[in-house]
Amino acid sequence: LWLAVGIRRRHPGEPPIENGLIPYLGCALQFGANPLEFLQSRQKKHGHIFTCKIAGEYVHFLCDPFSYHTVIRQGRHLDWKKFHFEASVKAFGHDSMDPNHGYTTENLHQTFLKTLQGDALLSLIENMMKNLQDVLLQPSSSPTPSEDWEVDGIFAFCYKVMFESGYLTLFGNELNVQEDQRQARQEAQKALVLNALENFKEFDKIFPALVAGLPIHVFMSGHSAREKLAKTMMAEELSKRENMSDLISLRMVLNDTLSTFNDLGKARTHVALLWASQANTLPATFWTLFYIIRSPEAMKAATKEVENILESSGQRPDPHGPHLTLTREQLDNLPVLDSIIKEAMRLSSASLNVRVAKENFLLHLDNKESYHIRKDDIIALYPQMLHFDPEIYEDPLTYKYDRYLDENGQEKTNFYRGGRKLRYYYMPFGSGVTKCPGRFFAIHEIKQFLFLLLAHFHMEPLDSQVSVPPLDQSRVGLGILQPTYDVDFRYRLKAQ
Ligand code: HEM
Repeated sequence: LWLAVGIRRRHPGEPPIENGLIPYLGCALQFGANPLEFLQSRQKKHGHIFTCKIAGEYVHFLCDPFSYHTVIRQGRHLDWKKFHFEASVKAFGHDSMDPNHGYTTENLHQTFLKTLQGDALLSLIENMMKNLQDVLLQPSSSPTPSEDWEVDGIFAFCYKVMFESGYLTLFGNELNVQEDQRQARQEAQKALVLNALENFKEFDKIFPALVAGLPIHVFMSGHSAREKLAKTMMAEELSKRENMSDLISLRMVLNDTLSTFNDLGKARTHVALLWASQANTLPATFWTLFYIIRSPEAMKAATKEVENILESSGQRPDPHGPHLTLTREQLDNLPVLDSIIKEAMRLSSASLNVRVAKENFLLHLDNKESYHIRKDDIIALYPQMLHFDPEIYEDPLTYKYDRYLDENGQEKTNFYRGGRKLRYYYMPFGSGVTKCPGRFFAIHEIKQFLFLLLAHFHMEPLDSQVSVPPLDQSRVGLGILQPTYDVDFRYRLKAQ
């Protein structure tokens, strides 16, 4: 009978199991409704590790941060590729990028490290700084200093500015624009990018459903949005662009030389990177700006840090003057902005770190207990449990802009649980071999955005008592969650 209804029985030595109430789905609905609450209640009942049946899969949730390293250090029993490559194929519709499947021999991991970190990061940062200023300070979007405030949604504003700047940084701008056509071409280019943003948002809405395995044909507008994005990323279109990032130009070469993908398949792999580069960065930027605007102390401390840098580097913000610059060292030396960004991401991140068991094996926990794990089972870490643990973060639901600053105003790295220092206390970028390769660029670009806004603009919430919009739980597992609604703010240029 157990087998007939697809219910697994716990074998000796295995973690406690929750089969849920519904065949196949198991605990999926309870988990989906509020994952943090669900996992916290099961942790209370079962302890450090337990198994939940979720949509036909058996997922072992490991909740003890002191045991995280057993999963993160990537033992020979665990596979990360299966889940990641499959999710990408389901969402973007390209052929598998796992070299074992025979469509490409590219080592994607190497490509990412080579083009998103080290020297490549410098040119990404430089281009982003230029693009941000072009977008933020172009005449149509920035009024001359006056008493007139511009009103916008914080979410809408962050999405417009960061998407356009990030898109141009990765995919470059149009080639060979003649001086006399520059204005018209720039407007056409802006229209293209804002159109891409609309398609991106439409596709992003259905992303969780695609990863969960639903076929894209069910979603008319999301499907058509993805296809439109892919069309703009065919080699023929990309070859008309200059100043492309190393990431996209190297991937174009590797698609051509190492893969058997057809033209559309190649374009789809670029859509995947557009998504990876924006889907988390945009909501992370929203939360960072939202909390600064809402917290006078955060605004004051951040503004002071920005003014100090401007003063020490002898720069004066002038929207019509030369661009502001920030060296890599200066960017790395903004502890207040760092803490502000980290705290916003602590409150909004809900990523799931997943590995698949390659074979039956014994998982050893930090407290010397061991558990049998069956082949093909999933092991998951859910860092939101760390981020909202009151033992690690006092008053975890409260925003404290200086939570990640020590008594000297530098980065704080000592966090404890039960008197023991934690190695893992902050994980919005994942962990181990699948840790986000774009994380340095992501933090830098958000800092650049804040730096420029704080240098040039006064900003205020429209409603000084504004409350925090709830997190949209439908994207749990995928990274930074979006707010369920936008919040208005007003801004105007500072007088020079
Ligand atoms: C993967 C978070 C920005 C490129 C990931 C993963 C997370 C993540 C959680 C998956 C890790 C895992 O599965 O264990 C974030 C956050 C960002 C951000 C929170 C912003 C705040 C970026 C940016 C880029 C980028 C700006 C590129 C320009 C990638 C790529 C992967 C990835 C290529 C896939 C890596 C692989 O499969 O090997 N990111 N990311 N990310 N991210 Fe990011």
